[in-house]
Amino acid sequence: MKPNHVHVTEMDQYERSAEFVDVMLAPVWTALDPVLAETLRGAPGPVVDVGAGGGHGTRVIARAMPQAEIFAVEPSRGLRAVLLARVNEDPELRDRVTVLPGDLLRATLPPRLGTLVAMNVIGHFDPTGRRTIWRLLAERLLPGGRAVLNLQPPAEPMAVPHTRFSELCIGRRRYEGWGRAEPAGPEQVTWRMTYRVFQDGEPAEEVEVEYAWWVLGPDRLKAELSEHGLHVNPTGLTDLGLWCITRSPE
Ligand SMILES: C[S@@+](CC[C@H](N)C(=O)[O-])C[C@H]1O[C@@H](n2cnc3c(N)ncnc32)[C@H](O)[C@@H]1O
Repeated sequence: MKPNHVHVTEMDQYERSAEFVDVMLAPVWTALDPVLAETLRGAPGPVVDVGAGGGHGTRVIARAMPQAEIFAVEPSRGLRAVLLARVNEDPELRDRVTVLPGDLLRATLPPRLGTLVAMNVIGHFDPTGRRTIWRLLAERLLPGGRAVLNLQPPAEPMAVPHTRFSELCIGRRRYEGWGRAEPAGPEQVTWRMTYRVFQDGEPAEEVEVEYAWWVLGPDRLKAELSEHGLHVNPTGLTDLGLWCITRSPE
C-alpha cells in the first residue's frame, strides 16, 4: 500500500480545541450511549464511525456490535491521538478498530458497509459532501444495514446566544465550554467556541476557536435521502435528534 502523504497545511478545525473537546463530550455521550446502542442492535458490520473524535462513540459501537470490524475515521491529529490511545488501551477495541486519518470523503473504505455512524459531525459536510455520503449509503449498504446520525440545532441559519454547554473539574482545574453561533449565508452558521480554564478559582487559560457548520433539519434530510432511495426515521428521545437511515422502509 502506498503511504498517504499528510499535508501539514491541511486545516484542522480542532487543532486548538482538541484537548478540551473529548472531555467536554463525555456527558453528552452519557445520554447518547444507550440510544445509539439500541439503534445498532442487530446491525451488520463493518462499521464506519465518521469523525470519531476521541472515540466515545467508537466504544459504544464496539460494545453494541461485539463481532463487527470498525473503521474510525478522524481527520484531526489532536483528537486522533486521543482516539488511538483509547483504542490501544482496550483489548476489545484494539483487535478490530482501525483508525483512519483524513476526511471521510477521501477515505478508503470497505466495498460493502454494514453500518455508518455519524455523531455530532454532519454539519461539517456541505450539501455536496452530504450527497456523496448518501450515494455511498445507497450504493454500498448491505441488506439490513443502517446509518445513524444526529441533527444538532439550529436547523436554520440563525443566531444562538453565548451559552455555557459544559463544565467539569479535573484536579485543581475547572473547565468551561461556551459557544455562540451567527448566521453565515443561507445554509451555514459560524460557531464561536470559548474554552475557559480556572485553577483554584482564578482564570488560568482561555482558548477561542471558530468553525463553519452547515445547518440541516429533518425535512431537508428526508428530501435529500429520498433522492437516493433512502428512508429515515427518528430514533430515541426527540431531544437527542437521532435518526436512523435504511435502504428499505422499516
Ligand atoms: C464534534 S466532533 C464529534 C466527535 C465524535 N463523533 C463524538 O461525538 O464524540 C466532530 C468530529 O468530526 C470530525 N470531522 C470534521 N470534518 C470531517 C470530515 N470531513 N470527515 C471525517 N471527520 C470529520 C472532526 O475532526 C471531529 O473529530
